[in-house]
Amino acid sequence: MRDDLQGQFIQLYREDADELTTRLRIELSNSLLAPQASLSPKYFYDTLGSRLFQAICALPEYYPTRTEAAIFARYRSEMAQSTGTGNTMIDLGAGDCAKAASLFDVLQPQQYVPVDISVDFVRSAVESLQCTHPQIEMLGVGMDFSARLDLPDEVRREKRLFFYPGSSIGNFTLREAIAFLRRMKLACGEDGGVLIGVDLVKDKAVLEPAYDDALGLTSAFNLNILNNINRLLAADFELKDWQHRAFFHQEKQRIEMYLEARHDLSVHWQGKQRDFVRGERIHTENSYKYTPESFTGALNEAGFANTRMWTDEQGWFAVFHATP
Ligand code: AVI
Repeated sequence: MRDDLQGQFIQLYREDADELTTRLRIELSNSLLAPQASLSPKYFYDTLGSRLFQAICALPEYYPTRTEAAIFARYRSEMAQSTGTGNTMIDLGAGDCAKAASLFDVLQPQQYVPVDISVDFVRSAVESLQCTHPQIEMLGVGMDFSARLDLPDEVRREKRLFFYPGSSIGNFTLREAIAFLRRMKLACGEDGGVLIGVDLVKDKAVLEPAYDDALGLTSAFNLNILNNINRLLAADFELKDWQHRAFFHQEKQRIEMYLEARHDLSVHWQGKQRDFVRGERIHTENSYKYTPESFTGALNEAGFANTRMWTDEQGWFAVFHATP
């Protein structure tokens, strides 16, 4: 379904709302009824969840955002040399669009296409960005890009640069990440590329507090997924029955996040029921940490080459540019 907003610049595409709701409900029911219950991290990002994530990015413990920002600030000209200017900049999971906007002056995109599942969030960000950057054609796209990358025809085919910062690629398994990179490769054509931020493996003493902060914002972010599920499924999760858990799994090189039942309880939705015993967990997120070599390997496997990487002095985070 197409939804034209705010004149010629902002257009949002959405799946048919009923189809989307039916698909999400089936997916959610199955994942809650599985032996290891889980909820996809994409359900974190309702309006409140997106705001909580924005706040997490400002936490002293959450190093990825500021480390990546410092890498962009330091190497922006080198990056622009590598990517070229006048691109079609496709910002996946754009949120408030701030990261892409901070690079507009060096990258000078011809068209900017923020894509996000949280339609309202991206809509208001694009509305204000279009005022400050009238020279850039902007096209907001509201869609779940995790499974498909079908962009509307209005997205220019030339010089497509997929911008995927913040280590969101870490929320996929390695297989999913490679499959997703392949889809980007197919969609970007021969003259395109990817500019991707990736969190690197480091000491657990740095990693774990980033996902279990003293202020409790990550806990609130994790618990808020239940508010979203209650809305989507008409379920009866009680937030007070659950607690936030996050730890680094050394062998799998990933942060695992869970919601743990504080006591025996049952959850109901649409004629279904799931019983949980005290201590039982719902898996809500993996956040994989790469090495420079392992991520270069993933890019190569997806068909990318000419990889360049920029990192910070501590080697905590890296930004990669690669072309087909
Ligand atoms: C969006 N994503 C890259 C974040 C991460 O670090 O995996 C989500 C997040 N979860 C807890 N804190 C932040």
